[in-house]
Order: sequence, then C-alpha cells, then structure tokens
Amino acid sequence: MGDGGRGDGLDEHTPVLLEEVLAALAVRPAGLYVDATFGRGGHSARILAALGPQGELVALDRDPAAIAAGRLRFAQEARIRLVQGEFADLARAVRSQASRAYADGVLFDLGVSSPQLDEPARGFSFQQDGPLDMRMDPSHGRPVSAWLAQASRDEIRRVIGTLGEERFAGRIASAIVRAREAEPLSSTAQLAALVARAVPTREGGRHPATRTFQALRMHVNQELEQLEQGLALALSLLAPGGRLAVISFHSLEDRAVKHFIRRHADPAAGPAGVPLRAAEIRAAQPPALRRVGRKQRPGTRELDANPRARSALLRVAERLA
Ligand SMILES: C[S@@+](CC[C@H](N)C(=O)[O-])C[C@H]1O[C@@H](n2cnc3c(N)ncnc32)[C@H](O)[C@@H]1O
Repeated sequence: MGDGGRGDGLDEHTPVLLEEVLAALAVRPAGLYVDATFGRGGHSARILAALGPQGELVALDRDPAAIAAGRLRFAQEARIRLVQGEFADLARAVRSQASRAYADGVLFDLGVSSPQLDEPARGFSFQQDGPLDMRMDPSHGRPVSAWLAQASRDEIRRVIGTLGEERFAGRIASAIVRAREAEPLSSTAQLAALVARAVPTREGGRHPATRTFQALRMHVNQELEQLEQGLALALSLLAPGGRLAVISFHSLEDRAVKHFIRRHADPAAGPAGVPLRAAEIRAAQPPALRRVGRKQRPGTRELDANPRARSALLRVAERLA
C-alpha cells in the first residue's frame, strides 16, 4: 500500500517506465521539475528522491482525489507543491508555486490512474457497475451519461470510431440511440452489456466495450485537446537543456506527441514531414527541441509485473537554447 492509501489496494497506482523516466529527466539536484500528471505520485516520489534540498517539484492533477492523496502521502515533504488543475493551468501553477520561471524537466504520464479505473463510483469501469461518469475532475464538464443522452447518432459514431478506433462504431451508436429511447443510459454495466450485444466479433482477451469506453473517456475529458495545450505550455516552461518526457497509451496520443516533437525538432520538415521549399526553410523558426533517444516501451519484466503498462510508450526531447 502506498503511504496515504486506503489499505484496500484501491488507492494504488504502479508507475510505468519508472527507471526510463528517471534516466530521461536526468534530474539535476537543484532543479525545478514539473509532474503534470501526479496520479498517486509514483514518478514524483522518484524525482524527489533524486532532488537535493534546493530542488523543487510542482505536481499537477485535475483529479481532486489525486491531490488529496498526494497531500497525505507528502505531508512532510516541503519540496513538492501540489496543484489541482488541468494542463492549461501548467504555467499558472509554476508561476504561483515555484521560486523560478523555468523548469529543468516536465513529465506527462497520460491517461487514467488505477484508482480512477478501479473505483466503480468514478464510472470508468466496464467490469464493475457504477454511474456512467468518467470525468477525471467530477466538478467539471459533463458525465458520459449526459453526453450520450443528447448527442446525435453521427456524433456518437464519430467519437467511438475515431477515439476508440472501433470498426463497429456505427452499430454501437445505433444501439445507444435505440436504447436511450426506452430509458436513459446511466450505468457502466448497462452500456457495457449494450456494446457487447452490438459488437459481433471478439478480440482475444479484451472486453468488447474496451474501445467504446476509452473513446467516451477521451471525449468527455477532452484528452487530445488537453495534450496539445499541455505540450505547448511545457515547451514554453522548459529552460535550455530541460527535458520533456511523455508517456502515452493510445496511438492518437502518441501521434500528437511525435508530431509535436517533430514540428519543434525539424521545423524545416513541414507539418506532415513534407520537406519545405528553400524560402520556407529560411522563414522557419530555429529548432526548439532535440529528440533524445528512440521511443521506449516497457520490457517483459515490467509487463509481467504490471500488465496495465502494455501499451505505454515514452518519448523524450530536450529544450534547445
Ligand atoms: C497515468 S496517471 C499518472 C500516474 C502517476 N505518474 C503515478 O505514478 O502515480 C494519469 C493522471 O493524470 C491525470 N490527468 C490526465 N489528464 C490530465 C490533464 N489534462 N490535466 C491534469 N491532470 C490530468 C489523471 O487525473 C491521472 O491522475
């Protein structure tokens, strides 16, 4: 059990690619670091262990439960500042909490934490019944149930097809629209059963509602939009030589990270990697980032110990002067 946990295993999160992240950040003992996705503080704890007495860590999470757990876990730790907020709040968080303006490293460990997934009341789980919510910050935005009650069939199909990469998105959207005419969709078990009936095939080892739940979660939390904002703010916060480390779990997230790094590491390559003409190259900004190493995935030892790490992918870049 992590310190500050509830003792029932529901408040734990195993940090992924921990050693790789530490190596990527190359923590300077007196540096300022930003953990943009605090979760239960697994990465933060290791950053703190590498920091000296002058070091600072600003840790952000949009989930109030994560921040509450962090305040308990790090009650005796003066070098960490916990802030509840979303990626758009990164710059404000650093300005208000740190003694300096520029950071030596920013970490994003995207997606949801195990306590969010495992607590039925949060509404992320298709394995346990709960209210159909899925908001990381339950005080903001609309729960999935409210969105599904009013979205058109086409919108539902587009979200599930795009964010879930679900080829049966049309059938699922039709089934949702039919079902909601009879009664509101309000529970995760209700939606999971409906999707299981609508999807005609089975992917080995996966619940048929996995893709649909992932898509709805990404949609109500605006995860791709948040990521774009977060990456831009992280770049503006990094000091020369500072490191950006991003762990993603979804192909669309990884594509956004890869393109962001490419855009700033090879400005002459153009948005889709298409080479620019000479005049465009002269007008292009000098590179703001340099790639560090290749993308990294968990090894078999980590995957054996933590199957939830299976789609994790780490990309690292360094801020140039
Ligand atoms: C995978 S977990 C991070 C786990 C953490 N690294 C650890 O070791 O415990 C992702 C966390 O990021 C938070 N999060 C996701 N998107 C966010 C956003 N746009 N703004 C702030 N926090 C976000 C989630 O609430 C969740 O707690």
